[in-house]
Amino acid sequence: MIPFSPPYISQDAIDAVTKVLQSGWITTGPVTKAFEQQLTDYCGNRKTLCLNSATAGLELVLRWFGVKEGDEVIIPAYTYCATANVVMHCGATPVMVDSCPDDFNISVEHIRKAITPKTKVIVPVDLFGIPCDYKEINALVNEEAIQKLFKPENEIQQKLGRILVMSDAAHSLGATYFGKKTGSLTDITVFSFHAVKNLTTSEGGAIALNLPLPFDCDAIYAQLNISSLHGQSKDALAKSVKKGWRYDVLEAGYKMNMTDILAAIGVSQLKEYHDIMLKRKHIFSLYSDAFKAMDWAVLPQHEPADKCSSFHVYNVKIKDADESLRDAIIDTIFEKEVAVNVHFQPLPLLKFYKDNGYNIQDVPNAFSHYAKEISLPVFFTMTDQQVQEVIDTVIFAVNKNRN
Ligand SMILES: Cc1ncc(COP(=O)(O)O)c(C=O)c1O
Repeated sequence: MIPFSPPYISQDAIDAVTKVLQSGWITTGPVTKAFEQQLTDYCGNRKTLCLNSATAGLELVLRWFGVKEGDEVIIPAYTYCATANVVMHCGATPVMVDSCPDDFNISVEHIRKAITPKTKVIVPVDLFGIPCDYKEINALVNEEAIQKLFKPENEIQQKLGRILVMSDAAHSLGATYFGKKTGSLTDITVFSFHAVKNLTTSEGGAIALNLPLPFDCDAIYAQLNISSLHGQSKDALAKSVKKGWRYDVLEAGYKMNMTDILAAIGVSQLKEYHDIMLKRKHIFSLYSDAFKAMDWAVLPQHEPADKCSSFHVYNVKIKDADESLRDAIIDTIFEKEVAVNVHFQPLPLLKFYKDNGYNIQDVPNAFSHYAKEISLPVFFTMTDQQVQEVIDTVIFAVNKNRN
């Protein structure tokens, strides 16, 4: 079986983890702090906080911004459930908007229509590693009429004076937009290091702070760091030193910290990340070179003008396919021992969101993308021969089921 996305763990990562395991300090400590600094240097943002998941990061930022019952947060309907669930955890309403007609990412035109006086945050999602249209989104929240609609309800919201843009960049570490990396493109960006991501720590995530002045990102980092560890005024490392045992609790915080064991994997992967992305790009181009000759294939645009993907998910759309044809093609592919996937089922198709009043008919572009979509295997140790096997299998499966 050709797997879909097994993790790549090099000997260097294993050695780095072993070193931490033998060091006498395995929870949050110096390695996590080093990983945070390296991510900041890599992305070009102001300050980065590592956590145990992207989900934790998204929720922590919403809580910090004071998102609560009665507020609205604009998200794409085409995303993973984490993007919506964190909004609901805060008691606020996710407002799900449609994708662009020719692009899975959130449509700026639809964002504009969805903004109301209740809108506090927009969460664009860089699907498959392709950055959203951030020039347009950042310009939109700064438009005078849109700023006037914004109703600040606490000091932080007052200071920003507009809707917050928090990118869900779970897929897009290393992607660029007008030459700048994700992390430095919006107010706040959240990355995921989950097991299937390009850069993994098995589970993990990070908040990249890049808020404009007069925000002090160092101070916000310190505050979020406290919130991520039970509201304690000191972390375990600071408490472990001489005269350091006494601490205070400043708020009912969360338990979201990243451990040094996981950060060690991250530090190692970041060193190799350039090569990891190059390998993924190579696989993407083999797929595209093969499928561009097929009249049934709609190929992903991973390097459209002024953008470059992180090459996270390669997905091909089967032109004119409906859901049942796409599903039959997937079944045939699996019968031939190749693991494929669908990214994603738009949220209004799923029970919980349907029960909460979301309707797939409100997001026709998202449904149309989904019904035709198949995601193909991409992983660091994948050989060109395996890529060719996937290509042959997909072509066979499409021909078998379309005729
Ligand atoms: C778009 C998107 N957002 C958020 C997440 C959540 O990431 P994590 O598992 O690190 O919490 C994922 C995970 O797959 C995702 O795909």
